[in-house]
Amino acid sequence: MSKYLSSRIQTIQLSPIRETFEMASVTPGLVRLEVGQPDFPTPDHILEGARNALLQGHIGYSSCSGLMETRSALAERLKEDYNFIFDPETEVVICNGASAAIYLTLRVLVNPGEEVLRPDPGWAQYDGIIQDAGGTPVLYPLVPEDGFTINFESLTKLISKKSKAIIINTPSNPTGGVLDKDQLEKLINFAREKDLIIISDEAYDKIIFEKEHIPIATLDKSGDRIITVGSCSKNYAMCGWRIGYAVGPAEIITQVSKLQSLVNICPNQVADKAAEIAFSGPQEPVSKMREEYLERRDFFIKGLMEVPGYNCSKPDGAFYAFVDISDFKMDDWDFTRFLINDVGVTCIPGSSFGEMGSGFVRFSFASSLENLSEGLRRMKLHLPGLLS
Ligand SMILES: Cc1ncc(COP(=O)(O)O)c(C=O)c1O
Repeated sequence: MSKYLSSRIQTIQLSPIRETFEMASVTPGLVRLEVGQPDFPTPDHILEGARNALLQGHIGYSSCSGLMETRSALAERLKEDYNFIFDPETEVVICNGASAAIYLTLRVLVNPGEEVLRPDPGWAQYDGIIQDAGGTPVLYPLVPEDGFTINFESLTKLISKKSKAIIINTPSNPTGGVLDKDQLEKLINFAREKDLIIISDEAYDKIIFEKEHIPIATLDKSGDRIITVGSCSKNYAMCGWRIGYAVGPAEIITQVSKLQSLVNICPNQVADKAAEIAFSGPQEPVSKMREEYLERRDFFIKGLMEVPGYNCSKPDGAFYAFVDISDFKMDDWDFTRFLINDVGVTCIPGSSFGEMGSGFVRFSFASSLENLSEGLRRMKLHLPGLLS
């Protein structure tokens, strides 16, 4: 490693998911079910909004918290959807995706050596972000027996004097689990008792099926220790536009905005305008995509349950099936390699999301029914031989 690199950057490992991508990109004819992004196009009225924004000259720098009209449109949207009320002037910053919102927030909050709890299994990027902020990731287990929800007994054991914050993610990538009101209220009390800040990653809030999404911030009267992170990526099929946000106490958000001004000056203004249209425009395309995900979920989960050796429950949200493959007596990486090379289907090994994901693989059903059906056909054909 070069002597010029900081010791900090050398401690950060990129997610091993890359290996799956690399294997997948050199193998022709695969059914790609590893991809974590909508396969729908961005809705037309949002594209039209972006075109108009360009024609109207929205091409300069803007506020380092993002355009005021986008922040106001988001405030209206969250009020209408969840009765989530905040001040768009001081309590929200528009960022380059939920990724940037989480990154900047942790940079603002974490001192060297402090610990940040994150769900295991959970989005692997949290670890690198926490480490880059000088902190230490502490993984709290989510297990299928508890429906992948928080077990407060095991959480308590992980708290130390260095604990600073806890990240939650509902609906969850990769489990599809959704935290209910009771769990969220318990967490608020727990965080108050242990003096923790809660960072609630709600990037999939609109992709939810039978259950209801409750932003944890709406359950907390004082509003002094919760940062809510959201995104246009999954809800509005806008992954590449790079728009997300953080909502929270003004004293924290002001600092996030200050840091954003150093990294990006401001969000990309055309994408920021497109997000305004996404928040203020018709929400039918969002419901329509959700209905399609629901149809695909039911079809795909039923099919997966017919594959000998697979065990999985119905996800309540997001677009992932998290499948227990322990019957195959195979490491989840070896299983993934077998699936890619011998079956012709891609997935993500569960251990890439944390140790608790070992023995699982994640499939994405953000893919057409035809693709899902072909993936199931191949797995039903090839996997029984692996069990015997
Ligand atoms: C749980 C979770 N949080 C955040 C993100 C980042 O989303 P964005 O595209 O808004 O940066 C992702 C992306 O896959 C995710 O799965």
